[in-house]
Amino acid sequence: MKTKLSEAIVERVNCGVFTVDRELRILMWNRFMQSHSGRSAESVVGMNLLDAFPELPRQWLSRKIEGVFVLGTPAYSSWEHRPYLFRFEHSRPITGTIDAMRQDCSFIPIEDEQGEVAAVGIAIVDTTDVCIAYGELQEREKTVSSALAELTVRNKQLTSLNEALAHAHQQLLQSEKLAAIGQLAAGVAHEINNPVGFVLSNLNTLDGYVKTLIRYAADTERLVSDAAPSLKNDIRVLAEQADLEYLLADAPTLVHESKEGLARVRTIVVDLRDFSRIDSTHVWELADIHRCIESTLNIVHNEVKYCAHLVREYAEIPFVRCIPSQISQVVLNLVVNAAQAYGANHEQHGAPRGTITVRTGMDRADPSRVWLEIADAGCGIPPEHLKRIFDPFFTTKPVGQGTGLGLSVTYGIVNAHRGTISVVSTVGQGTTFRVTLPVDGSLIEEASNAEAHTQTGPLDEIVLPAQLPAAT
Ligand SMILES: Nc1ncnc2c1ncn2[C@@H]1O[C@H](COP(=O)(O)OP(=O)(O)O)[C@@H](O)[C@H]1O
Ligand SMILES: [Mg+2]
Repeated sequence: MKTKLSEAIVERVNCGVFTVDRELRILMWNRFMQSHSGRSAESVVGMNLLDAFPELPRQWLSRKIEGVFVLGTPAYSSWEHRPYLFRFEHSRPITGTIDAMRQDCSFIPIEDEQGEVAAVGIAIVDTTDVCIAYGELQEREKTVSSALAELTVRNKQLTSLNEALAHAHQQLLQSEKLAAIGQLAAGVAHEINNPVGFVLSNLNTLDGYVKTLIRYAADTERLVSDAAPSLKNDIRVLAEQADLEYLLADAPTLVHESKEGLARVRTIVVDLRDFSRIDSTHVWELADIHRCIESTLNIVHNEVKYCAHLVREYAEIPFVRCIPSQISQVVLNLVVNAAQAYGANHEQHGAPRGTITVRTGMDRADPSRVWLEIADAGCGIPPEHLKRIFDPFFTTKPVGQGTGLGLSVTYGIVNAHRGTISVVSTVGQGTTFRVTLPVDGSLIEEASNAEAHTQTGPLDEIVLPAQLPAAT
């Protein structure tokens, strides 16, 4: 019963099963083998396998089967190493590069009662489906990995585009902010300038009046006391009631302080006007940058000398077509900032705390440009501030010391010269500002003069080039 069952299974199982003896004579040939080879069991049993199927790999197969006879252990060959043994057609249409049924082959020793290998059973399993799936999988893997490579490249491109965009956005923002504030500032400066002017002039007059009144009061008091000594006491009481002594002392101080306050307002207004380039009377000339620097350093010398030593490292550079007063303004703003980076207390005498280095040079990459650098070893600028230092009114300094306009004015001027400004700073180590200017601004001059001539209103619009530097 058991034998019958296994015979039935071997006969009907959906893989090829046949046996051969040591001379490779076919002993058994199941249905799968019959239907796929097209040869019945009757026609092949008793025949030599290699004679019956000359297309079989003769040497390899003989050796494989002989090996099983000799060693008594099973052997195996997979479709990946030897795609097929018999050239069978696959039951489903075979696609692409697959030209015949793929087969896994097992070679099984069959022993007789004495334990000798009497025959070798060969089982052939159709693995075409696996092979097709595997091929598809590989194909897909190839596509995926090439897509992945492409995506990586795209991603890189996108990242760098993104960075460029952020950079451009930052620049645009800066230029828009400056243009808007520039217009606003010009208007405000204009409006404030007049009242400040007459208040200041009134204060000067008032200062004179107060002095005269004080003199008059003193003289009157003296005259009355001399003429009528009996009134001396009454006058003293009156003076005490009016707290005259304090008033006399305080009035000039008040006037003085008010004048100082107004002077401060004036400075801001001037800064604002510079910032918006309200004066279109500036003249472009071929100027010696070192002379611009030196004249500025002379002006700020007093302000700077208690804070820092000035070190000059000048290179040989050509004259630059520019508006010299504006370049001086740039140097002034940068040097004052550098001095202030060493601490606020200018009045404190004693050894200077640091060094401010002023350097000049030619742009190595582009000989049509020169640069000047103001470097300090002061407090440095924290990264979160770096993006904002060119913003109008951004200041970290106490009221009265910083208006936050210095760098935005500087930025505006440098841009009007088609230059660039960059900054490198490390907190606690110092800051270096670098301004690069084109040597020949003659084209700019023409453009700018044309602008000035077509100007109708009193306000000069700030002109910023599209290419703006970023605070690095
Ligand atoms: N050399 C420098 N060292 C440290 N901080 C600086 C330096 N230059 C500029 N800054 C920072 O940038 C801010 C803006 O500068 P600025 O526009 O000149 O305005 P202000 O000097 O009036 O504050 C300063 O308040 C300061 O925080
Ligand atoms: Mg400043």
